[in-house]
Amino acid sequence: MDDMLEGVKKFHEQQVEVKRELYSRDGTKRVRYFCNGDLFFSKAASWRDTVMFDFQDGGLDPEAVPPICREAVFEYEKHMAELKTSLAELLSEALGLGSDYLSGTECMKSETVLGHYYPACPEPELTLGTVNHSDISYLTLLLQDHHGGLQVLHENHWVDVVPVHGALLANIGDFMQILTNNKFKSVEHRVLAAQVGPRVSVACFLSPSRTEKTKSLGPIRELLSQNNPPIYKETFLSEYVNYYKSHGLSGNSTLPHFRISDSK
Ligand code: OGA
Ligand code: NI
Repeated sequence: MDDMLEGVKKFHEQQVEVKRELYSRDGTKRVRYFCNGDLFFSKAASWRDTVMFDFQDGGLDPEAVPPICREAVFEYEKHMAELKTSLAELLSEALGLGSDYLSGTECMKSETVLGHYYPACPEPELTLGTVNHSDISYLTLLLQDHHGGLQVLHENHWVDVVPVHGALLANIGDFMQILTNNKFKSVEHRVLAAQVGPRVSVACFLSPSRTEKTKSLGPIRELLSQNNPPIYKETFLSEYVNYYKSHGLSGNSTLPHFRISDSK
């Protein structure tokens, strides 16, 4: 975990000329460097840069990953894949389903690893590191360094998620909330900008593979009953993703849009 944080930090601290090679806003690229992809609907620039490694559908060509963090990224992904398997079993059991239920749906088949770098910000009161949002994944495994700044919204208050060395956070995403018919809730969170930094974090998003985007997403049938009617309608994943991209990072949850209108 420390090697991964260090690898991400080293990547971002390279000369602009080196990083420029990977700079892209093209979401289909598997390795890219970008910032402020949400500027077209954000009110202010976020104080953060990101390098992304997309392990969708059969891994990544090692040559595509910059040498400065290559070893750390591949090692980290290997552990994410193992952890994902354990968590999928535990979450399935927590839902009262067979332990292989979630792995069977392949809903967390793909890992997308984002290495964030939050530079020190001279006027942190004017912006945020990451605006409030909930993740569009099923589950996000988050590693943060010792700086802090991550907050979750709990009962209308922003609560600090105090960093613990060697710990990962497992964040429920919107897809999981739909799938479990609100049993597991996606959490709204944000990252404050700070005068001290840089802060480094790594988010691993667990989602279905791209080819699954034409599949529909809705509450697990086995969980539904007369007392637990479906709260969300069946939606194509691609439809959800498109709606999220145009609304999700503005601080408004995307979920209400996909509710069945007469549900509680
Ligand atoms: C994210 C996110 C938090 C962090 O990537 O979705 O919320 O600490 N990251 O960087
Ligand atoms: Ni997030």
